[in-house]
Amino acid sequence: MKVTVVGAGAVGASCAEYIAIKDFASEVVLVDIKEGFAEGKAMDLMQCASLNHFDTKIIGSTNDYGKTAGSDVAVITSGIPRKPGMTREELIDINAGIVKGVTANLIKHSPNVIVIVVSNPMDTMAYLAHKATGHPKNRILGMGGALDSGRFKYRLAEALECPISDVDGMVIAAHSDTGMLPLINKATRNGIPVAKFLSQPQMDAVVQETKVGGATLTGLLGTSAWYAPGAAVSEMVKAIALDSKKMFPCSVMLNGEYGQKDICLGVPVILGKSGIERIVEVELGDAEKAKFAESADAVRKVNGLLESALS
Ligand code: 2OP
Repeated sequence: MKVTVVGAGAVGASCAEYIAIKDFASEVVLVDIKEGFAEGKAMDLMQCASLNHFDTKIIGSTNDYGKTAGSDVAVITSGIPRKPGMTREELIDINAGIVKGVTANLIKHSPNVIVIVVSNPMDTMAYLAHKATGHPKNRILGMGGALDSGRFKYRLAEALECPISDVDGMVIAAHSDTGMLPLINKATRNGIPVAKFLSQPQMDAVVQETKVGGATLTGLLGTSAWYAPGAAVSEMVKAIALDSKKMFPCSVMLNGEYGQKDICLGVPVILGKSGIERIVEVELGDAEKAKFAESADAVRKVNGLLESALS
């Protein structure tokens, strides 16, 4: 399994590090436009191999996509991250051009590659990657829900005062502060609905804290987070590499599922060697359905700003 990670900044490097530590890939190629940067990160990471006990070979490349040839999976983290007070949507102008060029280069050198988009605004960038390339639908997906679900479980465990391994839950819809939909009514502690343990105001607080999870970190760090984003992508890449058929909420092109068409939005999918093996349709309550539709409307508005990138 050869994996390319484009963008050797904090998210890309963290993603490469977690993939290496999990030791399921033979090779990771880190690509960056800044001269020598990816090579430096790759060398630093390789010097961890004997210490962290992995055999994955990591190489760096300054914008030479020839080195990515034959990649099975590619992760796009390039673009600018948000600063405190910014929404993910405000990054569209700069990131659209970058994501379009990177996706085309990746597919040129690895025609069968499975592309995972991380760059923000992620749902719109995943949509752009589809529209600009015509790559098979099951081979382009966006990472948002896996990260948001990690943040949801963190907040649930905090409210429940229990270990995170006791809780389960999922976040679907857009990867945005207002559009994400933590499925609190489906969240459980060891199979028991969390409503058994938490009051409505406590559940509302968990939902709200989850939705602004990324913005909270941006405020604390001065830039967007990287450990949990890197860990979330590495789990998705691992599910594809091991053909594990594990379920993750991912941003995928919908064609009627959840009442939506021609839009990338976070829904549960099964990941395996073909990328998106299938979309799982779960029954949503009326309020959840309305929030999902609202989230789709907001993403569609942002997608409308892609006109120049798509012309
Ligand atoms: C986040 O939510 C980077 O969008 C990513 O932290």
